[in-house]
Amino acid sequence: MTPLDRLGRPLRNLRLSVTDRCNLRCQYCMPEEEYVWLPREDLLHFEEMSRLVDAFTGCGVDKVRLTGGEPLLRRDLPTLVSLLSAKPALRDLAMTTNGILLAGHAGALRRAGLHRVTVSLDTLRPDRFKALTRQDALDSVLSGIRAARETFGSLKLDTVVIRGVNDDEIVSLLEFARAEGAELRYIEYMDVGGATHWSMDKVVSRPEILDRIARARGLVEPVAEETSAPADRFRLADGTTFGIISSTTDPFCRSCDRSRVTADGMWYLCLYASAGIDLRRPLRDGRSLADIAALVESVWQGRTDRGAETRLTVRDRRPFVPVSALRANPHLEMHTRGG
Ligand code: GTP
Ligand code: 5AD
Ligand code: SF4
Repeated sequence: MTPLDRLGRPLRNLRLSVTDRCNLRCQYCMPEEEYVWLPREDLLHFEEMSRLVDAFTGCGVDKVRLTGGEPLLRRDLPTLVSLLSAKPALRDLAMTTNGILLAGHAGALRRAGLHRVTVSLDTLRPDRFKALTRQDALDSVLSGIRAARETFGSLKLDTVVIRGVNDDEIVSLLEFARAEGAELRYIEYMDVGGATHWSMDKVVSRPEILDRIARARGLVEPVAEETSAPADRFRLADGTTFGIISSTTDPFCRSCDRSRVTADGMWYLCLYASAGIDLRRPLRDGRSLADIAALVESVWQGRTDRGAETRLTVRDRRPFVPVSALRANPHLEMHTRGG
């Protein structure tokens, strides 16, 4: 059964955050000095997450991506991966990580059945990495990338491009990815909750990214494909492919088949949604799987969210959520929603 929302979009893709904690403080995600964390007792146990995933697969989900904060900070993550990879309904099980702890975990995750990994990488310069994330950890990330490449065969890298911060590395990151056998995706800087330093002049748009690559590397051709993935893919004459996620200037809301569950079981229909649906309570109240699936189905059928497109209509755009609102409600943070 695949319910459609009010705009005719199916529910296929679930981003499941396993912790809101992170060992970095990226400028575009967690730039503040202090954060309010989700209460530990509210965090879902792995069995609870597994039951939730069953409810979602009953409504059409066949792709799950584990996210954080930083997912590798959740202890025994391979145990969750084993529970999920045993589900025949899941044809894709992936994880997005900052890579710091990846070298130590890649093998166990692969053995537990994880299909693929995406690593965030915004710079190749150690001093810049430190300024951007407040940790001197580029070497660990690079070791993580190599371990993932060896263990999983393929790999994606995500780069948030910010003018004046790392836009001079657009071409060198692409060279690095090609040498590592990874596919790079550039992400336009988004004004999501948590991006409290965002401003439109720091966004480097897809046309500008393409232009810079074409100047350095020659002809760039679009790769023709019909998918609901957020990235548009491109190819260079030498066969190198890369993606651009233009969530800010040309969002993909019209085909968005994804939603997110936070580590404490709140379900968000959109990255920009101001309120979520509490799935922890029905789980802990012992409601049946069929009941929870029926709730998911009926909520999805009422979905009208197209947050990034709506943001496009805002004049004089500023950070989406003020710091005071983030402090009062950590669920509004990008790092709680899983990027
Ligand atoms: P694939 O299945 O490999 O294509 O993964 P993915 O691109 O869905 O996952 P990933 O975690 O790599 O996401 C890349 C980035 O795209 C995120 O970190 C966000 O910046 C952006 N993104 C992901 N989901 C959404 C969404 O629902 N809305 C918007 N506007 N941007 C999103
Ligand atoms: N703009 C764009 N992408 C962001 N992410 C986090 N914050 C932002 C933002 N403000 C994404 C990045 C990161 C992932 C975990 O979340 O892709 O790699
Ligand atoms: Fe950076 Fe991801 Fe941590 Fe946010 S959750 S601070 S994007 S590593």
